[in-house]
Formats: sequence, structure tokens, C-alpha cells
Amino acid sequence: MCGIIGYVGEEDSVPIIVEGLKKLEYRGYDSAGLAVFGKNGYQVVKKKGRLSALEAAIKENPIGSHMGIGHTRWATHGEPSDVNSHPHLGSQNKIAIVHNGIIENFKQLKERLESKGIKFTSQTDSEVIAQLAEYYYDGDLIDMVIKVAGRLEGSYALGIMCLDDPDTLIAVKKDNPLIVGSSGHGNFIASDVPAILGHTNKVYYLNDSEIAVLKRGGVEFFTMDKEPLEKTIETITWSLDSAEKGGYPHFMLKEIMEQPKVIRDTIQSAIGNGENAKVLDGIDISKFNKIVITACGSAYNAGAVSKYVFERLCRFPSIEVSLASEFRYMDAVIDGKTLVILISQSGETADTIAAMREAKAKDAVTLAIVNVIGSTIAKESDHTIYTAAGPEIAVATTKAFSTQLVLLYLLAIRFAARLNRLPPEDEKNLLAELVSLPDKVTDILGHVDYIQKYASTCIGCKNIFFIGRNIDYAIALEGSLKLKEISYIHSEAYAGGELKHGPISLVEKGTLVVTISNCKQLYSKIFSNAEQVISRGAKVLFVGNACDAEVSEDISLVSLPDIHELFSPSLSVVALQLFSYYVAANKGLDIDKPRNLAKSVTVE
Ligand code: AGP
Repeated sequence: MCGIIGYVGEEDSVPIIVEGLKKLEYRGYDSAGLAVFGKNGYQVVKKKGRLSALEAAIKENPIGSHMGIGHTRWATHGEPSDVNSHPHLGSQNKIAIVHNGIIENFKQLKERLESKGIKFTSQTDSEVIAQLAEYYYDGDLIDMVIKVAGRLEGSYALGIMCLDDPDTLIAVKKDNPLIVGSSGHGNFIASDVPAILGHTNKVYYLNDSEIAVLKRGGVEFFTMDKEPLEKTIETITWSLDSAEKGGYPHFMLKEIMEQPKVIRDTIQSAIGNGENAKVLDGIDISKFNKIVITACGSAYNAGAVSKYVFERLCRFPSIEVSLASEFRYMDAVIDGKTLVILISQSGETADTIAAMREAKAKDAVTLAIVNVIGSTIAKESDHTIYTAAGPEIAVATTKAFSTQLVLLYLLAIRFAARLNRLPPEDEKNLLAELVSLPDKVTDILGHVDYIQKYASTCIGCKNIFFIGRNIDYAIALEGSLKLKEISYIHSEAYAGGELKHGPISLVEKGTLVVTISNCKQLYSKIFSNAEQVISRGAKVLFVGNACDAEVSEDISLVSLPDIHELFSPSLSVVALQLFSYYVAANKGLDIDKPRNLAKSVTVE
């Protein structure tokens, strides 16, 4: 997500803003910029790329002023570029804004403003706010904010400056965080505490529809009826490191906890008139006779889950899931009637890029599911839909994986409907089930104590196996990968029916076998697998909603909420993420940056 900082006070705002943006780098960004008051108007410097590029540009053309706003951008509309970076100015260069959020009605607002002769320079939704502000500004900044806020749909946290008033910084928000800091030498706005903690730990938390008016000497607050508002100042007690993680000990736990929101956002993006829905409307699945899903690591595991969903719903004759590192060299039998679905959080994984180019070289049609706008896979794929996970900082993916699953479910539902395999009533019921998913994830996240306690008994394990049948086997793959990549405990995932074909020889006294059980029709089968390993000395942890086993010395149980079996991986994976997280946390390991791993494997 984007980061905002603003300052008005006795000091030079430029170093304060630049240092504040550095403290917001952890949020993930692709460009940065700032605008300060100069003698003859705004001095604006904004650059694609890392903050170092912005600093170099400032060094070339030094700027300085007692008031300014700064921004780190995580692209949502319009790829990363200098012109799409923030701050954005109105066409009269009177109003400057920085924005964190997504304006859902920006196209309609942009068309209306363009019809009045206003010229836009960027592809962003945020520029609409600057143009709208300038359009409504008639000398009173608060009136202007009230008019603009009344016309924006979506989410925003805004920092606003106006050339007519060199000592006033305005802030307003809806559905995105914004704090107001107060110090002995000036006042601040910021998306998050780390940006200003070096200057003050005295902050006001702005609420939706509250307007903050900052001047050198103080801060005032108003309602949207222009009524003065009294707010309480809070004292931050967090350390800087803890503040960057929102108070959680690790980014991974913070991102696990963000899953209900990002799942909800991703579902919204792919139904109705969401951006992803429009892309999906352009894909006629009836024109294809083969689907290949290819990716690496967890993204591959999401593909493995989706194969069960596609086959069950679409009854499509040929659906393959292939590791990208294998697909790129296998001279696959594909052609113009093949749809190749590429899944990648980063959009920069070398093997997946190569797989995409191999598919295109064979005239296959490519559909990418990525999290990073402007990434290589996003740009080169024929069609691209985006997970709304926001920046994922922990190397071990959690929220991005969950949003990949959601887009794959929605893809399967849409394809099944297009192929007349899914009656409208069934489609409606499945979508309703999917919409219930975030709350069910929230339910699991509200009961982590049992998982945390159980995980603390597993830190001495040398091997932990994950088994499941049908779609439970596919999500077992992800459970095993999560555990091994952050706890360094050896782990394998097996189809339950495979145990007797070899792996069961590995089972001995004390071996832990995590048994995923949501497939009700196969419960007796997976339960007999559990009995087989218990008889050889293993302990079993059942995870799922289809288990009625008695808890005993050998059997433990993490019960999950009921949901359509095809969507159960989204609930199982949350329990498995938490299990892996707490095992690794109990071992005191570097959970966010596990040894030997990179967030994006951009080399072979
Ligand atoms: C998952 O926790 C790992 N970090 C890794 O397997 C990752 O999923 C894989 O490298 C693919 O990355 P991508 O989604 O960015 O392509």
C-alpha cells in the first residue's frame, strides 16, 4: 500500500519528508515523490524506482521549504512511472495532493472533469482528486475538502496543500489509516507511526470523515459539517521496529491477520464491475480445449488446488498443473487452443517468466494472476488479473497465496457458467459461499491459542508429514512448504492413499502426521490412513471440518468452520500458516527472512 507523510513547521520539510518515506519503505513501493512550497509555487520531485532515485534528483536540484508532502507509491491504477508518481497537482498547479487508497468512481469523475476542459497528465485514479479539489476550490480549503470527499467513492487517505495558503496542510481519510503528529517544532501527517516516530510519539488518530487542519503552531479538527472537533492526543509506546509491523512481532503474522480484508478486496475486484471482472469477460473459455496452470512454489500449490475446482465445476477435459521450471523445458503439447494460466505474486519469478514466453512462442493464450502491477509477467501476458493482497513483505507467502486461491475459484465459477456447466442458482450459491469466506477466516484467526500451544510441542520434531485426499491433498502441499521454509523442519506432503506405497516406512514413534480432512465423502479413508500411522507410533493432528475423531493422546484436532468443500483450502491454509508460524516462532527463527530464501526468485 502507499505511504504518506506531510510536515508544516519551523524546520526544513525536505529531510523530514525523505527520512519519513524511508521509514515507510517496509510497506512496499515502486516510486516516490514529494512537493514542497517554494518561493514561486510548488517544487515537485517524483521518480519511479527506489527512494535513492528521488534523493539523487533532489541533490541535483536542491529544494527546501517549511511545508511539504511526500509519498511512496504501490501502483494500483497506472503502471510505475515518474508521471504516475505522487504528489499530483491540479492543472492550475494550485492544489497538490498525496493519496493512499483506491477511488472506485475515478473514471466517471475524470470524464466529467475532462468534459469541462480539464487536462490530465497521468493514468492514475489519484490525479482525479487533485483536479476535483482544484475544480471545487473557491478560497476556502475546508469547503473544498467537504465537496471533494462527498464525491469520492472508494478508500482514501489524503494530504492536501494549496498555493494560496503556505502555512496550512489539510488531511482527510476514509477506510485508510492516517495519523496526525504534533511536536515542538511542527506538525505531521503520516500513513503510519514509523514515519514520524523519530520526531514525536504524540499523535491523533484521524477517523473517517474528520478533517485535520495543520499549521506551524497547531492542529485543528473539523467534522464534514465544518463543526470544530475535539480529539484526544495519544502517546505511542511502540518501538520503531514493532511499529513497522503494526505491533505484530513479524510481518508474516501481520500478513496472516490481513487475510480477511485482502480476500474481501480480491473478491470485490472480480465480481460486478471490478477491474478483474472486466478482464475475465474477455476470455471465452469455450474456444480452448486445454488449460495449463503453471507457477512455482506456493503459487504452484494454489494451481494444484485449483485443478480440483476447475475439474469439479467446469468438467473441462484437459487441465494440467505444471511446475514452471519443468514446463519451460518440456516442449509441451500446446497451441492456440490452449489457455496457459500463470500464477505469480511478484510477477518476476524467472521460471514463470520463461514458462510464459514458452507458452506464447507456441501461440497459447496466457492469463496471468499476479500481485504486482507493472511486473514483467503482468506486462507480457495476454490477459492479467490482479490479487488485491497489497505488498507482501514476509518471504513466506500467506495473504498473496490466499488471494490467488480466491481468483482461481472465481475463474472456475465464471468458466463453468460460460460452459453452461453451472446453473445460475448454483453459481449464485457458490458466490454466496465465497463471500462468506473472509468472516470464516476471521473466525479461525480469533482462535489461534490452541494452534499456538500445540505448535510449541512440535519444535523438537525432525519430520512432519502432511496428508490429505482430493483437494485436501493439494492444500497439504502448501502446509508442508510453509512449515519447511520457515521452521527448517523436514516435511513432506502425501496423498493419503500413497502412504502404503512407500512413505509409511518413514513413520516411527513420535512422528507427527498433520491430516487435512474436509472431504466428507473421503473421511473414512483419511481416518484409516491416520489409524495406520498411529499404529506405527505416530501422533496425528487433524485439521478440517470433516473430522469427528475423539481427541486422545494420539489424536489432536483443529476444527474449521463449515464451507463448500471446494473452498475449504482457504480455511485449512490459515490454520497451517499459523501452525508453521508458531513452530518457527517457538524456535526463535528469522521468520520474515528465512535462510537461503528470497521473496522473488528472479534467477534460475
Ligand atoms: C512461498 O512461501 C515461497 N516464498 C515461494 O515458494 C514462492 O511462492 C515462489 O517463489 C513463487 O513466487 P511468485 O509467486 O512471486 O512467483
